[in-house]
Amino acid sequence: MIVDLRSDTVTRPSKEMLDYMMSAPTGDDVFSEDPTVNQLQHYAAELFGMEDALYCSSGTQTNQIAINVHTQPGDEVICSSLSHIYLYEGGGVALNSLCSMAMIEGDRGRLNAAQVKNMINPDDIHRPISRLVSLEDTVNKGGGAVYDFDEIKKIKSLTSQHGLGLHCDGARLFNALHVNGLTPAQYAEPFDSISICLSKGLGAPVGSILLGKKDFIIKARRRRKSFGGGMRQAGIIAAAGLYALQNNVERLKEDHKNAKIIASELINLSWVKSIMPVDTNIVIFSIHKENGAAEYVEKLKSKGILCFPFGPDKIRMVTHLDLVDDHFQYLFESLKTIS
Ligand SMILES: Cc1ncc(COP(=O)(O)O)c(C=O)c1O
Repeated sequence: MIVDLRSDTVTRPSKEMLDYMMSAPTGDDVFSEDPTVNQLQHYAAELFGMEDALYCSSGTQTNQIAINVHTQPGDEVICSSLSHIYLYEGGGVALNSLCSMAMIEGDRGRLNAAQVKNMINPDDIHRPISRLVSLEDTVNKGGGAVYDFDEIKKIKSLTSQHGLGLHCDGARLFNALHVNGLTPAQYAEPFDSISICLSKGLGAPVGSILLGKKDFIIKARRRRKSFGGGMRQAGIIAAAGLYALQNNVERLKEDHKNAKIIASELINLSWVKSIMPVDTNIVIFSIHKENGAAEYVEKLKSKGILCFPFGPDKIRMVTHLDLVDDHFQYLFESLKTIS
């Protein structure tokens, strides 16, 4: 048996999702004429109470477009040193937008208002212009950590006061919403732009959505074209996103429950040292053996359990909608056979 815990991106579209995709009406989305893409964008914008939305190929693309629209070359973006936009987007902030990054590690990747305040540069020709604060919620590298919304509101009052934009990399935002209890529209209120991924826990095969004000999305649409992201009859894949938003949000709670169960099994193993708090669907744990993560990932792989090293002695496991009871049973039995 294979138990794939590498990421929540490994899910395959269900039969129901595929049927829905196959029956989707399509048109040319570069001309804004794909009815299914338009329906998805409209649905997402309404859900978040944002003026408009743009369907894109990936979360990297929505983040990179957002950063590009918010900034000018030479500006600075404030974010966590654990953030996806810094660690895992191929240096895109420098490459695409010619911006520097001011970074704070934060608490499992979550920044607080005092840290952000310290990073905002004064009006001084020696310093780059602080232009944007980018928060990630949940924080992938922080073990799926969820922001305290009151802290976000404090950060918002700072960005408003200093004229900075506030972006959210919400690749796993629906996971966060199950924990903080907010509606998408309540959460969206302080943000100038939000990126959400349909291809993570929500189970669509592809796609992300960028949300913002009307004039922001007009600019974003232009950038998407120049980044090579204008798609044609994209309704086929947008339908999967629509299906995911309408059917797979509630069940994310199952992933959270399963992640907690995995953590409670891991902690009893002699080779596991400690586990980050499990807030959502990501479990990051340390092992006793120094620099041993790659070795243990290989040991697990030999039993059919797939996961990623997440540092020299850290391993990440992620729960998702393609895991069933048999997978967990097999996982828990197999974990005990490793030393
Ligand atoms: C927090 C976060 N942001 C953005 C992305 C980028 O998404 P994509 O893989 O669709 O480019 C990911 C991908 O895993 C992510 O974890």
